[in-house]
Amino acid sequence: MRLGLTGIRKTVAPDAALSRARPAVNRGFRAIAFAFAGMAVSMSLAGCDAGAPAVAADAGASAARASVDSAAAVVRVAAHEVTHEVTQQAAHQATPGGGQSRPQVYESVRQMTALGKQLFFDPSLSGSGKLACASCHSPDHAFSPANSLSVQLGGGDMHRTGMRAAPTLKYLQSVPAFAEHYHESDDEGDESVDAGPTGGLTWDGRVDRGSDQARIPLLSSFEMGSSPATVTAAVKAAPYAGAFRAAFGEHIFDSDDATFNAVLQALETFEQTPEVFYPYTSKYDAYLAGKTQLTKAELHGLQLFNDEKKGNCASCHISQRTLDGAPPQFSDFGLIAIGVPRNRALPVNRDPRFHDLGACGPERTDLKGRAEFCGIFRTPTLRNVALKKSFFHNGIYHSLEQVLRFYAERDTNPEKFYPVSKGKVQKFDDLPQRYWANLNTEPPFDRKPGDKPALNDAEIKDVVAFLNTLTDGYKTGN
Ligand code: HEC
Ligand code: HEC
Repeated sequence: MRLGLTGIRKTVAPDAALSRARPAVNRGFRAIAFAFAGMAVSMSLAGCDAGAPAVAADAGASAARASVDSAAAVVRVAAHEVTHEVTQQAAHQATPGGGQSRPQVYESVRQMTALGKQLFFDPSLSGSGKLACASCHSPDHAFSPANSLSVQLGGGDMHRTGMRAAPTLKYLQSVPAFAEHYHESDDEGDESVDAGPTGGLTWDGRVDRGSDQARIPLLSSFEMGSSPATVTAAVKAAPYAGAFRAAFGEHIFDSDDATFNAVLQALETFEQTPEVFYPYTSKYDAYLAGKTQLTKAELHGLQLFNDEKKGNCASCHISQRTLDGAPPQFSDFGLIAIGVPRNRALPVNRDPRFHDLGACGPERTDLKGRAEFCGIFRTPTLRNVALKKSFFHNGIYHSLEQVLRFYAERDTNPEKFYPVSKGKVQKFDDLPQRYWANLNTEPPFDRKPGDKPALNDAEIKDVVAFLNTLTDGYKTGN
């Protein structure tokens, strides 16, 4: 794995060349911790219910404990702190006056997970009654869209579009909270290295928690176009209304805002189900565990993926375990500008003055006017990437071959990717020139026209073969 030295990345120029050496992975324990943090919210929501929102039957509780324990076991692979973290959280909840015993906490997590799942698949939460979270995040495609549209349709008439491709929802448990200057823990790498802007959910890292994220599509006029009142009415009328009351308290429906917040909480909890969202069951995981072999093409692809002078992919899409043995997330979660071409098929881009500049706006507003954040987007995980049908933040490409060709030939043959006007290539046509200093210039982006592309056709094929080993659900034969 490349560390330090060669790993220096020119990310945001004015803040000096910030280096990003080691992955920002391994926040597995956050997931569980959040689930418990969620409990505090549900408890206070249920405050009017004089005490515990849910009574845990003994049998149910032990089943729940078993499932949380196995969940914890999975997460422990990703972070040995997890057991400690869970215990601490649970113990905190179980203190006198904390309201819930440890089994009750487990039972509540189980209830919230089950509710979150139902909510995730329920189109009645949307203004149109036609759009569920799952409409854009299909479980059969690692929770990315089932169709190959660049951006999904939504809004009241189901004809509105936003500006971004819907990402996978798997392996988000490791995304750290957004930081302008990210430093890893000592377990993971070198604490003293400033990895630059890193983390946060969505392509621009503008929210840190699943609950805050879920608010975005529910309220967005071009997505689910809903409101707390609409959501509350839908939940009240849903088959799971009784379970919702049991989990959040008899009086939960008295307040639209409380109901809405409980919905967000349940969705966040569901998104942290380890066996669904971060199972680590790909062929590559089996290979790392010594349980299977890669084919010649896959192995060659992996070498090219790692080779600093060839793909150099692993410098951002980490492919090796962390220092403390956690499985690789295939992202260091850095926000990086790679100059993805403008997707002229998107309705928003009919306005030539419009640019999706990622972290500096327009969707994200807190870094507006900060030039060094313009054009940067969060590096996505490549786990399950072969199940996706649209790639990059604007969904411009629809096959991994196209993506690989962009990496290999962006600088050697820019005319293949950007418009040509009067014989001149309009390179980086979706990023105004004043932000070009933010563009990454490391291999494979270190070339000029006339140079040899970093990867040839046969090599591209092998890298794609390797990427196909990152799909969950691999069964080792015997
Ligand atoms: C109309 C399509 C659509 C629907 C419906 C939708 N999403 Fe998304 N989702 C997206 C898009 C597009 C993004 C990227 C948004 C951005 O970068 O601004 C996204 C991003 C996310 C992310 C962040 C992923 C990451 O990589 O950081 C999560 C989590 C998520 N959605 C969960 C949900 C949940 C929960 C619901 C239901 C309440 C939902 N989505 C409904 C399209 C959709
Ligand atoms: C300098 C960091 C960096 C390097 C090196 C890099 N990537 Fe990426 N990768 C990113 C970022 C950032 C994005 C998102 C860019 C965007 O959408 O604007 C991305 C997106 C992708 C996507 C699209 C995933 C999706 O869900 O849409 C694929 C596939 C991908 N990279 C594969 C590779 C491969 C293969 C290589 C090596 C040839 C590579 N990357 C090298 C940072 C990097």
